[in-house]
Amino acid sequence: MVQVAVMGHGVVGSGVVEVLTSHAESIAKRAKEEINIKYILDIREFPDSPLADRFTKNFEDILNDEEVKVVAEVMGGVNPAYDFVKRCLQAGKSVVTSNKELVAKKGAELLAIAQEKNANFLFEASVGGGIPIIRPMSQCLAANDVIEIAGILNGTTNFILTKMIREQMPFADALKMAQELGYAERNPKADIEGDDACRKICILASLAYGKHIYPDYVNTKGITEITLDDVLYADAWGGVVKLIGQVKKLADGKVDITVEPMFIERSSQLAGIDDVFNGILVRGDATGDVVFYGKGAGKLPTASAVVADIIDCVKHLSARKYLGWADGSESDVEPYANTIMSVYVRAESNNTKLAFEKATELFIGVKPLTRNGAKENEFAFTTGDMKESDIEKAIKALEDNGIKVLSKIRISDL
Ligand code: HSE
Repeated sequence: MVQVAVMGHGVVGSGVVEVLTSHAESIAKRAKEEINIKYILDIREFPDSPLADRFTKNFEDILNDEEVKVVAEVMGGVNPAYDFVKRCLQAGKSVVTSNKELVAKKGAELLAIAQEKNANFLFEASVGGGIPIIRPMSQCLAANDVIEIAGILNGTTNFILTKMIREQMPFADALKMAQELGYAERNPKADIEGDDACRKICILASLAYGKHIYPDYVNTKGITEITLDDVLYADAWGGVVKLIGQVKKLADGKVDITVEPMFIERSSQLAGIDDVFNGILVRGDATGDVVFYGKGAGKLPTASAVVADIIDCVKHLSARKYLGWADGSESDVEPYANTIMSVYVRAESNNTKLAFEKATELFIGVKPLTRNGAKENEFAFTTGDMKESDIEKAIKALEDNGIKVLSKIRISDL
C-alpha cells in the first residue's frame, strides 16, 4: 500500500479525494498498489467528511512522515504551495499538481529539484483540466518538432464568450454563472484578464521548446474589453471571438507567444469549441495538426488528471520519468511589437466616411466591415498584415485625428 497526501480540499482537492475513494479498486489494479490517503491538508474544518480523521492543518505532518511517498498539491496560488512543494521534493517525495501558476512561475526550479532527488513532479492537470495534453506532448509527440501550439485554454472565458455569442448574455452574468459552476479561479481576474491562459501556454511552450518561458515575458490580454458589438462584428466577418493562447517557434530559435482575444474563422477547428471546453491544437512537423478537446475546468475532470498523475507516480516510485525543461530568459521571446498580424478595428466618429478614408491612409489593406444594427457614429474595418508596432502607431494617429477607437482585436491565422 502506498500512502499519499492531498494538500488542499477545495473544488479540485475534494474531487481528488472523491475519485481516489470511489475508484479505489480500479485504481489499485492500474497502479498495482493500493493507494491510501493518509493526510488531507486544509486550514478549514470538514467534520462531516467520511475522511474527517485524515485532516490536518499542519504541513509538517506530511513532510515528516516518511511513509508518505506521493503528495498532490491542489491548493492553487504560489504561496504557500511553492514552499510546500519544494520541501516535499527535497524530502524525496513525488509531487503532482494542478497548479498552473506554480508550474508556470517555478517549474524549471521544481523540475530540477525533482531530478536531483530522483522524484517525480507531474502536472497533467495544470493545462486543459481533464484533457490529456502534457503526457501526449512529452511522450506521444516526442518525435516531432513542434511548429506551433494554439488553444482555447481557459474554460471560464470560453464559457463567458459562448454565452455572449449565443445568448447575448451580458459579461457579468456569464461570469457569475461560471463562478457558480466552479470553473473560475478564486480570483476570477486571473481568468478574465488572461493570466490563467498565459500560465498554460507558458507551460506548453516550455515543454515543447525545452526552455522555461515565464508569464512575465508574454503579451497577455483578456476578454474584459470585449463587447456584444465586437461579437456581432465577428459574426458579420464570418467567425467568432475566442481567447487564444498561441506560441510559434521562429527561425532564429526565439518564440513568438501571446494570449489575446482573436477573431477566428468559422471553419477553424477552434471556432466550434464552446462552453467550458478547451481545445488545443499542436502542429508537429511529422504529425501535422493534432487537436485535443475536452472539459478544461471543473471538479471531476481536473481531479481525474491529478489522480492519473498519482497513479503514474506510484508506478514510478523508484524509476523517475523524464519530464522537464531548462531555465529560460526574456531573450528567448520575440518582442510582441515585432509580430506581424492583421486586426479588426471598431471606432466612432461624427463623420464616419472621412474617418474611414483616414483609416485607409494609415493602415495597410483596409476593408470595411458592416453589421446589422450598427450605431450611427460607428464604423469598423479589418486590415491586412502589419507589424504590431505600426498598428499601434496608426491607432494613435486615428485618435489624434479625433476618431475614437473602441476596439482592436487580432485576426487569427488559425
Ligand atoms: N479557471 C480555470 C479555467 C480552471 O476556467 O479554465 C482550470 O484551469
